[in-house]
Amino acid sequence: MRFGLIGCGWIVERDHVPAILRCDKVEIVATADVSQDRSRLVGGIAGLKPDACHVDYRDLLARDDIDIVSVASPPSTRVQIVRDAAAAGKHVVCEKPFALTLAEADEMIQACEAAGVGLFMYHNYLYYAEHRLAQKLIADGAIGEVVAVEICAGGSRPWLGTEGFRPGWRFEPALSGGGVMMDIGVHAIYLAELFLPAPMESVAATMRFMDTGADDHAYCQMRAGHDSTALINMTWGEGTAKFEINGTTGYISYVYDENMGYFGGPVRSVRVGSATGSTTTYHVPPGRTQFTPEIFDDLVDTISGVRDVYPASGRNGRRTLEVAQAAYLSTDVDRFVDLPISSDSELYTEGTVELLLAHKKAQ
Ligand SMILES: NC(=O)c1ccc[n+]([C@@H]2O[C@H](COP(=O)([O-])OP(=O)(O)OC[C@H]3O[C@@H](n4cnc5c(N)ncnc54)[C@H](O)[C@@H]3O)[C@@H](O)[C@H]2O)c1
Repeated sequence: MRFGLIGCGWIVERDHVPAILRCDKVEIVATADVSQDRSRLVGGIAGLKPDACHVDYRDLLARDDIDIVSVASPPSTRVQIVRDAAAAGKHVVCEKPFALTLAEADEMIQACEAAGVGLFMYHNYLYYAEHRLAQKLIADGAIGEVVAVEICAGGSRPWLGTEGFRPGWRFEPALSGGGVMMDIGVHAIYLAELFLPAPMESVAATMRFMDTGADDHAYCQMRAGHDSTALINMTWGEGTAKFEINGTTGYISYVYDENMGYFGGPVRSVRVGSATGSTTTYHVPPGRTQFTPEIFDDLVDTISGVRDVYPASGRNGRRTLEVAQAAYLSTDVDRFVDLPISSDSELYTEGTVELLLAHKKAQ
């Protein structure tokens, strides 16, 4: 399947391209980035000639040798690019967060459905060995019924973007839609929902804001059905990582490298404790990368109808956005916010940018 890469920043250079190059089913045929240097740099790594490295993504979309575009530019650019990609008849796979507002998210989903193209998300943490192992252990009854999931991202210092664009776009709500919650909180949301016995029904959050208005600490409680709860504590500040799943007869806890911080970092082992006090430790293979060729294998097989295995569609991206948006509103109104968010609400249409900018300090 022939890929066009739109947005050629760090994640694409460091993770997407190396994984794609190890996947036999995918060929990168063109790149596009508003920074010509970035487009050519990433295109060069993929073995492209300069004339396949575009600046305007619409030139990439006009090509007839592309089946799917991978969109990894900042979130504020997403809706227009996806709308244009659908109109050009290309399948789409998007980086997170999916969009800035739920209205944009629905527009993207509807545009792709109307054009008959697929819309997918990079929910790449679903491919991490520790989560797959935990899923299997839970399915085998190792901890009984799940009652709580706690995910902490202490020590996850914010990732700056490339020099070719705006390295600090994550701190600018108009470009990012939010800070740590939109950046890594979305990964925690889909992981928590993977393990909870029922979808999240309401969200309460307390956040701390930077001078730019972006949140750098977000402490959230999500209530789900069957009396289960998620605690999602995201911070760009200091601390350690924690990932624990509590069940009625035991628990699963990940062991991270010392001082690693951040729940997306490498996990040393997965520990299972039981009500009798005994523990079992499962080692996780070292050397994990954020993206694996398997992600692209599954994507291609799903699009081409070989196997319906890809785990994250545009609707899953919309869902994580919805929960994150509820967390922002909860901080503002100081109470639990119920899910789903109504399409009649201001939050649905306007998103959280204005809410965040109200926290901006004069500079
Ligand atoms: N899934 C993950 O684990 C993961 C990890 C890191 C980043 N990300 C996501 O990937 C995306 C990119 O993050 P990054 O860290 O690589 O940022 P970055 O700033 O390094 O890269 C963004 C790139 O997009 C380009 N760009 C901006 N506007 C554009 C437009 N209109 N058309 C084409 N290109 C445009 C910029 O020039 C830049 O090269 C973000 O959405 C981020 O949240 C995901």
